Amino acid sequence: MQAVSFVRSVFAPKWSSDVHLEGKTAIVTGANTGIGKETAKDLAGRGVRVILACRDLAKGEQAARDIMREVNGANVVAWQLDLADTKSICQFAENIYNTEKELHYLINNAGVAICPYAMTVDGYELQFGVNHLGHFFLTFLLLDLLKHSAPSRVINVSSAVHIMGKIQFDDLSGEKDYHPVRAYAQSKLANILFTRELAKRTEALGVTAYSVDPGMVNTDITRHIRRPLVGLFKAFGFMLKNPAEGAYTTIYCTVTPENQLFTGGYYRDCASAKTCRAGQDDSTALKLWAVSCHLLGIRWR
Ligand SMILES: NC(=O)c1ccc[n+]([C@@H]2O[C@H](COP(=O)([O-])OP(=O)(O)OC[C@H]3O[C@@H](n4cnc5c(N)ncnc54)[C@H](OP(=O)(O)O)[C@@H]3O)[C@@H](O)[C@H]2O)c1
Repeated sequence: MQAVSFVRSVFAPKWSSDVHLEGKTAIVTGANTGIGKETAKDLAGRGVRVILACRDLAKGEQAARDIMREVNGANVVAWQLDLADTKSICQFAENIYNTEKELHYLINNAGVAICPYAMTVDGYELQFGVNHLGHFFLTFLLLDLLKHSAPSRVINVSSAVHIMGKIQFDDLSGEKDYHPVRAYAQSKLANILFTRELAKRTEALGVTAYSVDPGMVNTDITRHIRRPLVGLFKAFGFMLKNPAEGAYTTIYCTVTPENQLFTGGYYRDCASAKTCRAGQDDSTALKLWAVSCHLLGIRWR
């Protein structure tokens, strides 16, 4: 046990920043647990008003209470958001426009991973639907507020698993050939391509965009993975980041001055990182943008 604590103390990621962001507002999706909750807690400690966007409102409200107990003077509120349902996304955006004057940070963190085949309410494969399309639509709906609040940022939480991804334009919903890992990897590659294309379109408007790999983090993301594999993952828990450490790169991309970051870029371990070649393919990014708009029935030029 002592050896384990020693290994952790040597290899645990270390990063800190004392930047304060009073007067700023952030939305963190999937903030009731894991990396999202730690991101929300950290930002609340920096004076940010944080909206916890959670599928299960009761869990979101519990997370808000936890954060308020742990962070003196935290300004946090929970709103219901189911990224698997475009009606819920519209309702959430309407609530935001009704209650918030400004939005400086949209942190698209929520995710579902490696699950059995399932569909969103609107009929898209769940991982592509929640991880990519849900966040794409949410960003589209909130862009006016982000522009109005510029300088502002969109941060998309992706994964190193994107390297196994390919955007299967002929079978985006995996109806012909579904594999849970491939579908997850596709959705995480989509996060990176969305970030690149978004950054190009919004830089001149004062809205920058970043994608993030949090690393391997000990959270409930494994909930859909078969038991023996989860056991193995958790057995090496001491080598994984804890959720607070898993939030570092997201927070880094939130607090670091814009002139020290690359809009459209990909970040890992609080530094700029390289994606795989597919993550740099601008023609696929453009095609994905057009297909996403088509699927959602929106015009986003
Ligand atoms: N943990 C890792 O090793 C790792 C590695 C690379 C990337 N990531 C990424 O990091 C992000 C956060 O994951 P995590 O590790 O913190 O996992 P987590 O603990 O499982 O948290 C995932 C969050 O997403 C929410 N969510 C799932 N489906 C949703 C939906 N339809 N609408 C709204 N919210 C939904 C969950 O809500 P419920 O609690 O209600 O289900 C939960 O709050 C994800 O995007 C994941 O892909 C994680």
